[in-house]
Amino acid sequence: MNLAVYLTKDHKDPGVALKHGVNKVLITACIVLLAGCAPEDTTQPQAPLVTAATLGEQTVLTATEYLDESAYATADQVNGARQARVCRACHTFDAGGANMIGPALHQFFGTVAGSREGFRYSDVLRDAGFVWTPRALDAWLVQPGRFLPGNRMVFAGVSSASDRNDLIAYLLNVTSTSAADNDS
Ligand code: HEC
Repeated sequence: MNLAVYLTKDHKDPGVALKHGVNKVLITACIVLLAGCAPEDTTQPQAPLVTAATLGEQTVLTATEYLDESAYATADQVNGARQARVCRACHTFDAGGANMIGPALHQFFGTVAGSREGFRYSDVLRDAGFVWTPRALDAWLVQPGRFLPGNRMVFAGVSSASDRNDLIAYLLNVTSTSAADNDS
């Protein structure tokens, strides 16, 4: 009864709606309600975005082992180096490299996020508790602000999956070299 009153409230002449049958109005209302639900249903088939909260169990390998995986073994590290230029505005990659606007990234693969000595992380990254694997980094680089809301890395993301693969292969390579490798 309340519904009928609500539905007819805005009608120019509530009497007309009642005369022509409240049932018709209610049926229309039901169709509108069902249609309203439809858009939500159509979003279901989309692949869910991986976030820090949905990363789940991860297999942690060495950089060399990751570089043997086909996605990284076949990656274009020249393009990866090009993609990494923007990162270098805020990060160092080499052994002994300093923290800058962002934390030093030497040997960060396999470490717990937000654990670099001497860098002041946002609370969310310090408390996130996941390990940096290529998979975690890939999800982070899609859009850092969606992967871990509230983090302080001001970076829109790398939208192309193949650019991300190239960049990750390059980072696996350059951030994992030892000090001795850098000397040569
Ligand atoms: C404008 C500066 C800026 C740019 C550009 C930038 N970063 Fe960052 N990055 C940060 C900051 C600041 C943090 C720390 C975020 C926090 O504490 O929430 C961070 C954190 C990170 C971390 C987490 C490290 C850790 O110790 O947990 C990774 C990995 C990372 N960035 C990779 C990259 C890569 C790869 C690129 C290039 C595609 C990039 N960043 C570009 C500023 C930047």
